[in-house]
Formats: sequence, structure tokens, C-alpha cells
Amino acid sequence: MACLAWHDKEAGDVRFAQFFPLIKQAASDERNFVKKAVNWALRQIGKRNRNLNKMAIGTAKEILKMDSKIAKWIASDAIRELTSQAVQKRLVKEYTISIRNYILRFLYKTSLQKIFFLIDPEVIHDRMLKVGEFLGSNVVGRNITSVFFSYSNKSLEQKILGIKFANPVGLAAGFDKDARLTDILPSVGFGFAEVGSITGEVCSGNPKPRLWRLKKSQSLVVNYGLKNEGCETIAKRLKRKTFAISIGTNIAKTNSPKTVNVESGIADYVKAYKSFTDIGSFFTINISCPNAYGGKPFEEASRLEELLLQIDNIPTKKPVFLKISPDLTRHQVDRITQVASRHQVSGFVCSNLTKNRKSKKILDKKIPSEGGMSGKVVEDLTNELIAYVYKKTKGKLVIIGCGGVFNAADAYKKIKLGASLVEMITGMIFEGPQVVSEINQGLVRLLKKDGFNRLSQAVSVGIKD
Ligand SMILES: Cc1cc2nc3c(=O)[nH]c(=O)nc-3n(C[C@H](O)[C@H](O)[C@H](O)COP(=O)(O)O)c2cc1C
Repeated sequence: MACLAWHDKEAGDVRFAQFFPLIKQAASDERNFVKKAVNWALRQIGKRNRNLNKMAIGTAKEILKMDSKIAKWIASDAIRELTSQAVQKRLVKEYTISIRNYILRFLYKTSLQKIFFLIDPEVIHDRMLKVGEFLGSNVVGRNITSVFFSYSNKSLEQKILGIKFANPVGLAAGFDKDARLTDILPSVGFGFAEVGSITGEVCSGNPKPRLWRLKKSQSLVVNYGLKNEGCETIAKRLKRKTFAISIGTNIAKTNSPKTVNVESGIADYVKAYKSFTDIGSFFTINISCPNAYGGKPFEEASRLEELLLQIDNIPTKKPVFLKISPDLTRHQVDRITQVASRHQVSGFVCSNLTKNRKSKKILDKKIPSEGGMSGKVVEDLTNELIAYVYKKTKGKLVIIGCGGVFNAADAYKKIKLGASLVEMITGMIFEGPQVVSEINQGLVRLLKKDGFNRLSQAVSVGIKD
């Protein structure tokens, strides 16, 4: 043994002796530089358990360009070391998140969802809002939620209309009507969210019951009728907040006989709009609520023209989206896109709920006669609308795809049809809150499979002429 150790030491000395002239030569050439490079590289390699230091790799690449063999040798070694650490870390992170999501999905599908579905949908919705508001109110709640649900990946980041989106999956309007969840939604993994719909006046909505589950159809029937606390209270709640994700304020007309004529309807929209000109990142003007008194008057082109004329005159830096119905005829969509093109409309949210009760996607026998339907019942209509609006506007306006997103493939389909972002509610209720992270992780895989480095590269690639 002693002999072997001696032999090894000797071999090491021989190797060192071989390198010595090289070191000596380099040292005499660029003594200070090489010294620094050696120290730096050793320091980096010593940080085995730390995060990949991008700057370190950048510096190593710079060193590689220099005219010193020793420096090149050390730098390439450091790059190899750092890169393999990073790849390993990323793989471990992805596997850990997959396992986490798998366990959460299992728990949700086998127990929580079953319990929730025994309780009245509006009651459980209100309880979840309370839980979410509490978790968002303190740093411990936010961090714990984040451990269970968050996911991030650079390839999902986008800057659209000057707004940063950490990922393309947003919470659609209607879940957080009174904007109580803005502090917790980033920890659930959402890249953005719409709050509202918010109306000019306080609105108690339609009489109960007003929310039903269609279990077989994987859909909800919604007849809330724009229940919300009104623009003044909600603006006050949000005024002093800073948001970790982009927040859209979804504005609608108060559901009341008082706002049924065009002037009072516009005045109501304008009142709500003015309350949020400097709160949040973007506006959505909801002209497609299927459950409000007097129907959807602003789907008609001349009324929409009047509304948007007034909206144009209100100063704000926030871009404006129009939320439209999946039940519009193609002619109506054409008229709406024409009007929108004359005003400061940057995009469309496609789409709201459908009232089409003849849909083959309705698998449940009994459905309430009132209300609009979400989820899988509206999905195909939404997808057709996304592709149609994208083509009609020649891809110049931004589309947020919303309706029946339950998994990454559903979201990817909308993106390939022209949506830059997607939103969801029903998918989260049927699949569990981990679905947001599952969708984002799945999107990264789908993008890679199709050879895309960034999500924006996939937008509209599935559109046929
Ligand atoms: C419970 C519930 C309430 C909703 N309320 C609103 C609303 O106030 N304003 C709005 O623009 N859309 C509202 N919607 C429509 C959603 O924003 C979305 O367009 C629709 O549900 C389709 O998405 P999903 O299939 O992912 O649920 C509501 C949907 C649900 C399920």
C-alpha cells in the first residue's frame, strides 16, 4: 500500500513537472492575468453547490478568447464544470416539480375535489377566496403556497405591449371578482390575472342559485350577473398595492335596469374605467357578459363605436382588450374588429361564456336554462374564434385565449392558433390548483419538442390559410 501511495505521488509529481514549463511560460507572459484567472476559476469550481453563475461563464468565455494556453485551459475546465452543474440542477428541479405536481394532482382528484364537489359551488368558491386572501396576507402563507405551486422557466417569459409576463397562464375574470387574491396568485404560479368584472356601481348580481357544475361535460353554468363590490371599493383596495404579476382590470356595465340605455351604460363603463387608469397593467372591457339585464348592447357596432370614443379620451398608459362572446356570428366579429381598429384597442380576450345549449359537448342530461357555460363546452368555439380573429386582424392585435384550458396541450393549441396568452378558471376547479404549474411545465416540453426556444415563436404556427 505504502509503495502504491509513493508511486501515485511520484506520478503526480511527474504530471506537475510536465505542466510546470507551461505555467512558467504563461506566468512570465501574463503573470497577473493568469494568477487572477486561476484564482477565479478555482473559486467558481469550489462553489459546487451554488447556483450557476451566469457572469462566471461569461467571464470564462472572455478568458477563452485570450492568448494564453493556461488561461484557456482553466477557463474551459471551469465552463465544463459550471455547465454540467447547471444542467444537473435544472433536471433535478424539473423532476422534483413533476413529482410534487403528481402528488398534488393525486390528492386533489382522489379527495379534495370529491369533497368540494359535494358542496354548493358558490359556497366553496367563497371559501376558497377567503383561504386565498388569508394566505396572500402574510409572507409565510405566500412562501408555503409558492413551495407547493410555483414554477418558472425563461422560455415562457414574454414582453407584450410593454408588459412583462412571467408565464402565459393567467386567471380569467370572474374568479377574483373583488380583487382579493392579487397577493396570492403569483405564488399559485399564474403569470398574470384579471380581476373583476368590476362595474360602476355596487352590484349584488342575479338571485341564487347562480353557479352549477356540469360534471360530465367538465363545464360550469354561470349566472352570477356581474356580482361585485363596485369600482370605488375595489379601486381603494388595490390603490396602494404593488403587484408581483401583471393585473388586468376587467370592466363591465352594472347589471341593472338603470344602465340599460346607451348613455347610462357608457357612463357606467367610463366611471369604472376612470377608477383604474393607474391601477394594474391592462384593461379588459367586457362587452359579452351573457347574464346581465338588457343583454349585450355593446356588441352592436354603432354602440361599441360610441363607447370606445369615450374610452379613447380617458388618459391612461394601460392597453385595452375587448372581451368578446363565442356566440357571435362571423359578421358580428367582423364589425367588432373593424370598430376596434379605429380605436385604442390592443387586443381581444377570446372568449366569454357560451349560451349555446345545442352544443354536442354538453354531456349532462339536466342543465339550467339560465346562464353561460364554460370549460369543455366552450373550448372549440373559443379556439375557432381565436383563429378567426387572428386572421382577420392579420396578427396585429394581441389575443388572450380563454375557454376550456385543462392541460398544457389545450393551452398550446390556443397559442398555435394565435393566442399569445391563455386564461382559465374551470380547468383549475376540475383539475386542482397545481394545474397552473403543470401547464407551464408541459408548455416548456411542447415548445422544446417543436424546436422552439421561446413561447412567442409558437404563436399562430398552427393557423392554416
Ligand atoms: C364562476 C365564473 C364567473 C365568471 N365571471 C366573469 C366575469 O365577471 N367577467 C368576465 O369577463 N368573465 C367571467 N367569466 C368567464 C370567464 O372569464 C371565462 O371567459 C370562461 O369561464 C371560460 O374560461 P374557462 O373555461 O377556463 O372557465 C366567469 C366564469 C366563471 C366560471
